[in-house]
Amino acid sequence: MVKIKNIFSCQECGAQSPRWVGKCNSCGAWNSYIEEKVSAKPAKETMRTALVDSDEPVLLQDVDAESKNRWITGLLEFDRVMGSGIVQGSVTLIGGDPGIGKSTLSLQIACHLSGQGKRVLYISGEESITQTKLRADRIGYEKDQELYIVNQIDLNVILEQIKKLKPHIVIVDSIQVVYQPELSSSPGSVSQVRECASLLTYLAKAQGIGLFIIGHVTKEGTIAGPRVLEHIVDTVLYFEGERYSTYRVLRTTKNRFGSTNELGVFEMTSDGLKEVSNPSEIFLAERAKDVSGSLVVPILEGTRPFLIEVQGLVSRSAYGVARHKAQGFDVNRLALLVAVLEKRLSLNLGDQDIFLNIVGGVKVMDPAADLGIVLAVASSFLDKPIDPQTVVIGEVGLSAEVRSVAHIAPRIVEAEKLGFKKCILPKNSLKGVAGIKTNGIEIIPVEHVREALDYLI
Ligand code: TYD
Ligand code: MG
Repeated sequence: MVKIKNIFSCQECGAQSPRWVGKCNSCGAWNSYIEEKVSAKPAKETMRTALVDSDEPVLLQDVDAESKNRWITGLLEFDRVMGSGIVQGSVTLIGGDPGIGKSTLSLQIACHLSGQGKRVLYISGEESITQTKLRADRIGYEKDQELYIVNQIDLNVILEQIKKLKPHIVIVDSIQVVYQPELSSSPGSVSQVRECASLLTYLAKAQGIGLFIIGHVTKEGTIAGPRVLEHIVDTVLYFEGERYSTYRVLRTTKNRFGSTNELGVFEMTSDGLKEVSNPSEIFLAERAKDVSGSLVVPILEGTRPFLIEVQGLVSRSAYGVARHKAQGFDVNRLALLVAVLEKRLSLNLGDQDIFLNIVGGVKVMDPAADLGIVLAVASSFLDKPIDPQTVVIGEVGLSAEVRSVAHIAPRIVEAEKLGFKKCILPKNSLKGVAGIKTNGIEIIPVEHVREALDYLI
């Protein structure tokens, strides 16, 4: 007889406790413990040992890494985010809100790869086979492809099918509905998610399968059972977008085979996701010219420059307590930049509400946007519009000095490509400009925020 015991596990981080606790000791989450029945029978140990290719230590120089090549899907935006293609035997987690397009994206990946002669198994636990077929027809699936589809949620059956079919790529949609019958806790609970994901991972590593696991995001914005899954897999992708916009952004938060800064932009159309190869044009499409507080900044995400519009709005506070609100930018950093404006440039912002908006739903982490933000706020406060043909680059220090930024050349090239005529940048970054060929974009070097402000306003 298999012994069944009850334990409580944190649905946030997977920590376990024999009794219920209100606050998790390991991750600090409140009210996250749920009772789960766990059978004492160990999970299939044989599967775990399959990961080990050799028991003996080998010389690193003798290891053949060439054979671990990458599969390029042909969806350029996706390939770049992955770090040029899918590594054999790698495990990728795709997270995102319900309805954002995770199933569509993964089915498109499946179609692209099977079109190149790869054997792909799509495990659809949430939708029926006919539903998936209808979707595949919409996104342009062609016949004669080795794309297998199964509607299955029992992990043991899934593992058997993978072993039998020997696919190159397996997609599990989604991990929250798959369950292992030997564990009696319900599908979607932390112990089920962890166990299923790790067994699938072991099999993928052992057989050199490219495995994709789709996971839903909880209300707090992390993948359910987040930390337990994130350390099992090699790559974590988040698929995001504004609910009422057709644009979707794919970003990585972890990638063992590439950079985590890359960003892929897609548009959801009536026949699937389309790559957006020039996002700057979209981000700037609806820009109102000649209004105060609006400014364009070239930011860099990974290796890729983007032009984004920064909007500042400064208005007199009605309640005596000034508010700072920011969308797409760290509000604490905004407070710091506002303090710099007050103290070093003597702008009287103490009794003003300040709102900052980064257009297009992008989140800006790049410090090179500082100068643009400072100038957008100043422009709105002084109610003086900024020349719409100018872009602004620079990090701002506490004494209002404009500090140099990395990778200046691709930013200028992108600005020029979209027809901008002037670029304000840090004096110390000038050496980065020397090598690039520009077709006459005017470069204005500045050392202090005051200089940039006097130039523009
Ligand atoms: P889906 O991939 O099912 O989302 P998820 O798996 O993340 O829950 O995406 C569903 C949404 O995408 C749905 O609102 C319809 C829309 N959609 C299109 O607009 N065009 C298409 O071609 C497809 C397949 C879906
Ligand atoms: Mg889905």
